[in-house]
Amino acid sequence: EKGGFRHFMLKEIHEQPQAVLNTIRGRVVPETGEVRLPELGLDEAAVRALRRLSIIACGTSWHAGLVAKYWIEEWTGLPVEVELASEFRYRRPLLDGQVLAVAVSQSGETADTLAGLRMAKERGAPVVGICNVVGSTVTREAHGTLYTHAGPEIGVASTKAFTSQLAALYLLGLYLAQVRGDLDAAARREKIRALVAVPGILEGRLGAWQARCRELADRFYGCRDFLYLGRHLGFPLALEGALKLKEISYIHAEGYAAGEMKHGPIALIDREMPVTVVAPRDHVYEKVLSNMEEVRSRRGILIALGEEGDEALRQTADHVVEVPRPPDPALNPFLYAVPLQLLAYEIAVARGCDVDQPRNLAKSVTVE
Ligand code: M6R
Repeated sequence: EKGGFRHFMLKEIHEQPQAVLNTIRGRVVPETGEVRLPELGLDEAAVRALRRLSIIACGTSWHAGLVAKYWIEEWTGLPVEVELASEFRYRRPLLDGQVLAVAVSQSGETADTLAGLRMAKERGAPVVGICNVVGSTVTREAHGTLYTHAGPEIGVASTKAFTSQLAALYLLGLYLAQVRGDLDAAARREKIRALVAVPGILEGRLGAWQARCRELADRFYGCRDFLYLGRHLGFPLALEGALKLKEISYIHAEGYAAGEMKHGPIALIDREMPVTVVAPRDHVYEKVLSNMEEVRSRRGILIALGEEGDEALRQTADHVVEVPRPPDPALNPFLYAVPLQLLAYEIAVARGCDVDQPRNLAKSVTVE
């Protein structure tokens, strides 16, 4: 049942190329740059009238929403709010028919996310579900569902659901930009071509990433705390990397926006503290590099995930996990998510943890 893998989590990490491919398949026409999402059930006039998006989710699904905010704001110019469902549901709901509510949930049964979805519906907002489980409550209550086709996810730590949520949200963003006329066909063709390349890139790297993460795990499995840093698209990835580590290895880990380091967490850094940095060569790379210098001057241990062949990164970091450069930096979240998952996985295994069934956690959180 685990297909020769030691744990469901590892099997599911390795299923990501297929999961992402299945989520994209049939929804794009690469030659014309067209995105087809009839299952959203949104009419085009309603899409053109939108003023804002409100993404509602918990945990890893919330992190997927945070990534999507950068994409969708960039492509459409629409403001995107990403709400923790448990907070959203107890605020005054500032939604109406011109706000698209997007409930993101692997299971489709998370109590807080469902409560948020129902509030959005009551306010007259069109509601889209992004969901992995066919027939689940989210899919029955949303006006339309964009399924992630990741297949069943058994491991409590969400892995392939996350990257396929990213694929679904990327398509949703492109679709909105298409209907609203924000991105022309040529621009969409490029974005689709880049997305379609993701499964192949992941497939080619999984083995090397796992071997590298095992080496790092052997060194760092005894640490008590980890800090994860990133900027722009790297920020939600830092949050996700830290969440994966804490939930399966029980090591305390915090994800931070690298620019916030000076506002507090820098006080934690000493020679015992590994700092995992998401550092692709994008438009904030130089800023991330200077944050790394600050960590280094306080003797923190730097583990950087960055582009292969990046010499400056090698000079600055103690350890580098190499990630290929994608055709478009917008794709970096797919590529950086996987080594972050593998790092958490290998550390948890080295500590002898029950990776698939971490203590105190359930696969779906159906009570508040
Ligand atoms: O089923 P959902 O996507 O609604 O679940 C949300 C969270 O409970 C879930 O992502 C949780 O944070 C995972 N265990 C993280 O790996």
